Amino acid sequence: MHSSQRDFHRVIAIDGPAASGKSSVARELARRLGFVYVNSGAIYRAITWYILEKGIHTEDLARLAQALASAAVTSCLRDGESRILIDNVDPADRLRDDRVNESVARVSRLPVVREIVAQKLHDRACSDDLVVEGRDIGSVVFPETPYKFYVDASPEVRLQRRAAQGERDEIALRDQADSSRPVSPLVIAKDAHVIDTSYLTVEKVVQEILARLKETGLRI
Ligand code: DC
Repeated sequence: MHSSQRDFHRVIAIDGPAASGKSSVARELARRLGFVYVNSGAIYRAITWYILEKGIHTEDLARLAQALASAAVTSCLRDGESRILIDNVDPADRLRDDRVNESVARVSRLPVVREIVAQKLHDRACSDDLVVEGRDIGSVVFPETPYKFYVDASPEVRLQRRAAQGERDEIALRDQADSSRPVSPLVIAKDAHVIDTSYLTVEKVVQEILARLKETGLRI
């Protein structure tokens, strides 16, 4: 079902490449506004974890689709954040494993996977006001929301941020895969407000977004 046919609560879309500062900003913004925070990348990561856990090769589309068709993908709210469960398991502490980092861009380009994630996001938007971070939230998943932001940072700063988090994540490779895939690539929605976070604190970015939201007419 196309998203415009459903009655959604308010959705603030925060898109951008890996390590651009999306998560810190989106989480803090949601806390200030009392909206639910949703990390859509975490849903792609949870599905990737599940596929790997089942021993399914990420190129084996038939087995992958079959496994996902029978998996129970549900979400719950914890501390103002939406968490994803697959077959009743919350894989939150496995989502940044090296093997998930290496495979998530391949899994997330598959239409069958994108369909599941979009459906979960639409379902959640039917019951709560949301701040959703991702790659295609403003461009594809919630194109009708007037609250769209695209956050970016220089490649050097993004690499430093990942290193500071102690992660080995080939963000340049992932960005390349995320931006060049045929389905829902990372793009700047034409009506998104772009913020370069390279030299801004989280607080400054949140302030800029809040100011912009007021201008756009969001009642806070
Ligand atoms: O935000 P993140 O780095 O945790 O996202 C992990 C991967 O999920 C990323 O490489 C691309 C994919 N993703 C996506 O394709 N669309 C989204 N809306 C969010 C994430």
